[in-house]
Amino acid sequence: MKPPKPATDPSPRDDSPAAPTREGGMRRGLTSYGDAGFSLFLRKAFIKGAGYTDDALDRPVIGITDTGSGYNPCHGNMPQLIEAVQRGILLAGGLPVKFPTISVHESFAHPTSMYLRNLMSIDTEEMLRAQPMDAVVLIGGCDKTVPAQLMGAASAGLPAISLVTGSMLTGSHRGQTVGACTDCRKFWGRYRAEEIDAAEIAEVNDQLVASVGTCSVMGTASTMACIVEALGMSVPGAASPPAVTAERMRIAELTGTEAVRLARSGAGIDQILTEKAFENAIRVLLAIGGSTNGIVHLAAIAGRVGFQLDLDALDRMGRETPVLLDLKPSGQHYMEDFHAAGGMSTLLRELKPLLHLDALTVTGRTLGEEIDRARPAFAQSTVRTLANPIYPEGGIAVLRGNLAPGGAIIKQSAADPSLMEHEGRAVVFRDAADLAERVDRDDLDVEPGDILVLQNIGPKGTPGMPEAGAFPIPRKLLRQGVKDAVRISDGRMSGTAFGTVVLHATPEAAVGGPLAYVRTGDRIRLSVSARSLQWLVDDAELARRMAEAPAIEPTAERGYRQLFLKSVTQADQGVDFDFLKAAQARGKVPRA
Ligand code: FES
Repeated sequence: MKPPKPATDPSPRDDSPAAPTREGGMRRGLTSYGDAGFSLFLRKAFIKGAGYTDDALDRPVIGITDTGSGYNPCHGNMPQLIEAVQRGILLAGGLPVKFPTISVHESFAHPTSMYLRNLMSIDTEEMLRAQPMDAVVLIGGCDKTVPAQLMGAASAGLPAISLVTGSMLTGSHRGQTVGACTDCRKFWGRYRAEEIDAAEIAEVNDQLVASVGTCSVMGTASTMACIVEALGMSVPGAASPPAVTAERMRIAELTGTEAVRLARSGAGIDQILTEKAFENAIRVLLAIGGSTNGIVHLAAIAGRVGFQLDLDALDRMGRETPVLLDLKPSGQHYMEDFHAAGGMSTLLRELKPLLHLDALTVTGRTLGEEIDRARPAFAQSTVRTLANPIYPEGGIAVLRGNLAPGGAIIKQSAADPSLMEHEGRAVVFRDAADLAERVDRDDLDVEPGDILVLQNIGPKGTPGMPEAGAFPIPRKLLRQGVKDAVRISDGRMSGTAFGTVVLHATPEAAVGGPLAYVRTGDRIRLSVSARSLQWLVDDAELARRMAEAPAIEPTAERGYRQLFLKSVTQADQGVDFDFLKAAQARGKVPRA
């Protein structure tokens, strides 16, 4: 559409009957017609077509991301959440405007949801930049959605507040509580080992996901929910209420109310995402036995505001941060138990001596003030004390060595203690297809005690760094009663998974990392206590193998895949696109 006359005045006229009487709101980010007054006039004319009054349009405008999708049952309560957020915004005198962005679910994204996280973050960032809003409520939940939204909002810079959809309810199988997805893996492992039959596995399938909402254990979604609260990006108590509860809706209403206050304060997201906030988030990640994906996502979010995640410093923090939360896969309970135990206020109160209590939150109060305002403590058994943890160190350890010069990680709290110091013969699978083809063959050359290596599932390898790192134990070993084996890859694993699984080996095989040159029969030594991952092959042999088969990085002819393969960074950089990082570096986090 064209303006009626050429622009002469670049600012909207204050006496225009169409103009809001205050700055911000609908005046933000006017569409370029070369005449700002006309741009505002036109914008208001169009939105009035939806029945808005000037009074409504003069309020602080609060955008709400609508990530509901028929392909995303983890966001199945989106309509109710949006209604509650809108109520909160209206009660506080703001104008809610919902808008759609990409939604990504773990089980409905090929080749893996991680491939689309950065696309969702770009969508979120650009919609926040393009559309007029004074603050935004980011509603996400399923694993990649929350980090994508935080990455995008961090880059966009405006006031933002997060709301997670909440966890699903647990189900019951023959008297046993079950929930996605630690139990999905346990029962599938039993089925593969021929301990249960096809009828029973079908029965379990009906029970694992008992309602809409995110996975009910301390998987990536729950981890990110806790991290969001620890960062100060949500209202207090927002991490744990299950998706279908009244409390989740009250949190949503409160989020809307706080969003209006935040918009009026003008506090940008950079005032919340500080060095102290990231240190608090890392502390919580370690103390909850959180998902290893939390490290990748925190690295990406931090990168958007100029911080670089320091893996060695994170590991040092881990040595003085015990796991307190008794949730699967590190422990035994579910998110609804965590909520009944008081949720994050119980955990944060216990962690108080290790936190930056003066870190600002979206409520305008500090984390310490929010802990002090929370309901009083009571007797419960889901959140342990510092003196009686479920695991003496942080859930995640960082490994170094010639197999991963850029680092690798292991979720030690969910690993088999008897395998944490282990040397064995490597059995190598070239990629996921090779694994699928050979893992269950009776003639597979594998023995108990061998170390299983899967190559080419890193950021560029598949691409998208799929959650294939906790790959299946060969059926031949399962039949011999082997329940766990050291597995090493450049991929990720689901936060709901468990086992002695070394992940994120950096640099990845597809770009010529040492992992690419391991061969069946080589020996590898893992020492979690020494934080060491050693491939017992000398440098001369490595050089010979590299010269024999130099790496050819994958490329693509066109489209998003081409952008992805050209731009994606390694795991230690958050698997973000290199061009999305903050222009200005602000140092490393944590500083510990
Ligand atoms: Fe959505 Fe687990 S699949 S949170």
